[in-house]
Amino acid sequence: MAVLPVHKFPHPLLKQEAKPVTRFDEELRQLADNMLETMYAEGGIGLAANQVGQLRRLVVMDLHAEDPAEGEGGESVPRLERPREPRVFVNPELREASGEIVTEEGCLSVVEFTAEVKRASRIVLAWQTLEGEPREEEFTEIAAVCLQHELDHLAGKLFIDHLPPLKRQLVKKRLAKLAQSA
Ligand code: NI
Repeated sequence: MAVLPVHKFPHPLLKQEAKPVTRFDEELRQLADNMLETMYAEGGIGLAANQVGQLRRLVVMDLHAEDPAEGEGGESVPRLERPREPRVFVNPELREASGEIVTEEGCLSVVEFTAEVKRASRIVLAWQTLEGEPREEEFTEIAAVCLQHELDHLAGKLFIDHLPPLKRQLVKKRLAKLAQSA
């Protein structure tokens, strides 16, 4: 397994639509493994293939990789010592969406910026496994939020695209400047 470089805004691949996966082979499994390893290394809870330079409809997620919420009682277990629960979604499609939830979102491709985004609080997602088997499942709360964020990536969208137009322009300008000076 390998940790892959994660493209940052304004990389052009982040604005492009990913294409359906048609080959369910060893190479796809390796890419999914590498994406999981990259997500763990970067401390994210989800990653879309666009972010590592592959325009394919492939998403990985592990909500257990999230930092413990502040103010939680008891001792927090360091992230790397918690059991992993990796999920892989090939060709994910939104089937249903309902309810509303607002959470603070960040993204491994958007450095040093988070913002509140409103999303559906319950979704039904259809996808294929790495073997090409069809699956369907209901997700709620943070899992629903994370999957909608990753589906956005596959459509060439970032969470900052949900901001009101004026704020969005300001943020994108600032991020582009940051990227230039990096
Ligand atoms: Ni993201």
